[in-house]
Amino acid sequence: MTDTLPPGVAARAAALRLLDAVLRRGLPLDGALDAAARGLDRADDRALAHALAAEVLRRLPDLDALIDGATAKPLPADAKARFVLRLALAQALRLGTPPHAAIATVLPLVDGGPRRLVHGVFGALVRAGATLPEPPTLPAPVAARWQAAWGPDVAAAAARAIAAPPPLDLSLRDASATAEWAERLGGRSLASAHVRLDAARVTELPGFAEGAWWVQDLSASLPARLLGPGTGRVLDLCAAPGGKTMQLAAAGWQVTALDLQPARLERLRANLDRTALRADLVSGDALTFTATAPAEAVLLDAPCSATGIFRRHPDVLHRARPNAIRTLAERQAAMLARAAQWVKPGGTLLYAVCSLEPEEGEAVADAFTARSTSFRPWPIDADELPAGVAPDAAGRVRVLPGMLEAVGGADGFFVARFRRDG
Ligand SMILES: C[S@@+](CC[C@H](N)C(=O)[O-])C[C@H]1O[C@@H](n2cnc3c(N)ncnc32)[C@H](O)[C@@H]1O
Repeated sequence: MTDTLPPGVAARAAALRLLDAVLRRGLPLDGALDAAARGLDRADDRALAHALAAEVLRRLPDLDALIDGATAKPLPADAKARFVLRLALAQALRLGTPPHAAIATVLPLVDGGPRRLVHGVFGALVRAGATLPEPPTLPAPVAARWQAAWGPDVAAAAARAIAAPPPLDLSLRDASATAEWAERLGGRSLASAHVRLDAARVTELPGFAEGAWWVQDLSASLPARLLGPGTGRVLDLCAAPGGKTMQLAAAGWQVTALDLQPARLERLRANLDRTALRADLVSGDALTFTATAPAEAVLLDAPCSATGIFRRHPDVLHRARPNAIRTLAERQAAMLARAAQWVKPGGTLLYAVCSLEPEEGEAVADAFTARSTSFRPWPIDADELPAGVAPDAAGRVRVLPGMLEAVGGADGFFVARFRRDG
């Protein structure tokens, strides 16, 4: 069907399918891309469809406010006309598309629908000089949740952080070459084995082909930093695509990396191949997996709502519902109890989530601490963390929007560390 569409429309049709996947079917934006972009031959069109859908998701409440202000009778939330108007407005007001092209490339998508209405609303808004507010507005349920959990300043910082994708963080295989790589890549380092760059085409950067580094947000690099260098065995229980596996292997650990999804394990294998690092890979479920022997350390980087990575994945702002967060937190508690079984006496257990929901971080760690007789919290010291990230009062790490903001921010994240007594 795509090849019958006028030039430029196919990418917008794919963006519309992506928005439908995220907003109506609750699917992840990146996960929906292959199906939505089927039939697009050019990589540029695929990238445009993704960028366009992501921009709509960053600005959704503000785009809808414009649309609602310009329609006599509100369009239903799932009306195609609303989806198409969001796309046209995001192009014209955010992506620099000339208004005539912004509307011409989406009107064919309302085939058989209210084309005149869409054209009229768009034209009226453009003629009136409509703009989108800065910073963008958080979706109301998210703003309410984060204000209640972290306060208005953090919610305001989160709104500022949605405005644009964040910088690109790299983790280095060789920590001793941090200054050298920062200079070679023209970036800045905020911690050992870390370089931060402006957005770039990753595969074209120096060091990619030789596997000198991998892409990993600074926050996501914290759990492996907290284990430090090691020579013993570590179980990385939810390992793919392997950012933490590679850090651990580079720090000298013998890593067993487990993941439920074979396709993601393949990505982990490719990452290990590229970086010439070693780990034993196991395809399996952390809830039923049986280790051959207990390990010095176990890392549980648990599946979560992923609301902490909203800067790069704005779809999470619209998909993470309270019921899903509750279910994920229950699964994390079960996984943590299971993970604890594979820690040797005297060994270390780390629990991490890239979530900004306290139900998934603090509450799971508190419940584990309360229930466990053989583990106690092992508080994290400030000097184990990059400058600008501090442990909380309980000695855990909670990275929040607003932290490191002057240098590009960091993903929302939580880490708790425990030690096994006996
Ligand atoms: C947060 S991601 C892990 C990111 C990874 N640790 C890294 O640093 O690149 C969570 C992973 O858990 C995996 N997963 C989900 N449920 C699982 C389960 N029951 N057992 C093992 N892995 C699971 C997912 O496939 C996903 O790859």
